[in-house]
Amino acid sequence: MMQPKPATVLSIRGLTTTFPGPRGDIVIVDDVSLDVARGETLAVVGESGSGKTMTFHSALGLVPSPGRVVAGEVLLDGADLLRLPPHELRQRRGADIAIVFQDPLTALNPVFTIGDQIGEVLRAHTRLSRSSARKRAIETLERVHIPDPHRRVDDFPHQFSGGMRQRALIAMAIALEPKVLIADEPTTALDVTVQAQVLELLADLKRDTGMGLVLITHDLGVVARYADRLAVMYAGRVMEQGTADRVFETPRHPYTLSLFRSIPHLDTPAGTDLTPIEGLPPNPALLPTGCAFEPRCFHGGGREDCRSGRPALTPTDVPEHAARCWHWTELASERRPS
Ligand SMILES: Nc1ncnc2c1ncn2[C@@H]1O[C@H](COP(=O)(O)OP(=O)(O)OP(=O)(O)O)[C@@H](O)[C@H]1O
Ligand SMILES: [Mg+2]
Repeated sequence: MMQPKPATVLSIRGLTTTFPGPRGDIVIVDDVSLDVARGETLAVVGESGSGKTMTFHSALGLVPSPGRVVAGEVLLDGADLLRLPPHELRQRRGADIAIVFQDPLTALNPVFTIGDQIGEVLRAHTRLSRSSARKRAIETLERVHIPDPHRRVDDFPHQFSGGMRQRALIAMAIALEPKVLIADEPTTALDVTVQAQVLELLADLKRDTGMGLVLITHDLGVVARYADRLAVMYAGRVMEQGTADRVFETPRHPYTLSLFRSIPHLDTPAGTDLTPIEGLPPNPALLPTGCAFEPRCFHGGGREDCRSGRPALTPTDVPEHAARCWHWTELASERRPS
């Protein structure tokens, strides 16, 4: 029997963001469409500069000036965030959709206590009194497993370890029980044991609340363990997406395959030769006319159609598994990542 499709809570459609450049606008997020369902984890991977952060900052109306979202929709439970008046967007951000930013050190204010900072989020969105906000802040710290929350609520950020600061940021993000949580590289600054704890925490919170989780990560082990679906980005575009299992087993874009071969993941046997992807990620101001990956592609590189025509993201063997490559069928015989 077919599983019913889980309910989509966040639907990003054709999102496009540009920055002005010396020779015209530079496209940084290029026609990105992504869906997140309730209770589902979507992992987003891609080399540094591929547009992962900018995609979700665009979705939340957080693109730094002079950048601009020039097209697309961001439907959260059916309402387009990009068309809300600024005060309503601010209201929904935090309450309905929240983000844990990539840089945890700058995201906490050193001069306020942890409790004040969580309380601030609560009071900006609700009519809670100062004392009820403090009570809720303590409860929220408890939910993210901060030991002794009654006492730690009055600590300043520097009194927290790195792992606890990351938990405090997650506490701020989930304080209002958002429907979608975006976690941008939530564990890169942490040591391995603490990383695992933070990821387990996110998975538990997701299970308990049914929120949709977007996990931006460089770590394929994290993808293998936590992701239901996977999107692979390159040059501001989604190059491939599908269920995580399927994309892992049968990548249909040469970039995905190269990425998998270039970084270690959970079941990479010790001693496996990793193959770095040759060349550098492209300068977004100087993208090739055809496929953005063509100059580095082991597969189609040099072919006329790859150089001249820009492939669309199209369904592969199964409709939910899409890739942006003219020659995806030829990948079937490629060695899948070990
Ligand atoms: N303020 C800005 N002005 C102009 N371009 C920017 C700005 N911030 C980022 N970019 C460019 O946008 C592109 C996408 O950056 P983004 O931060 O989204 O990448 P990322 O995939 O999140 O990378 P990382 O893995 O390093 O976090 C890059 O080419 C980057 O140089
Ligand atoms: Mg980023």
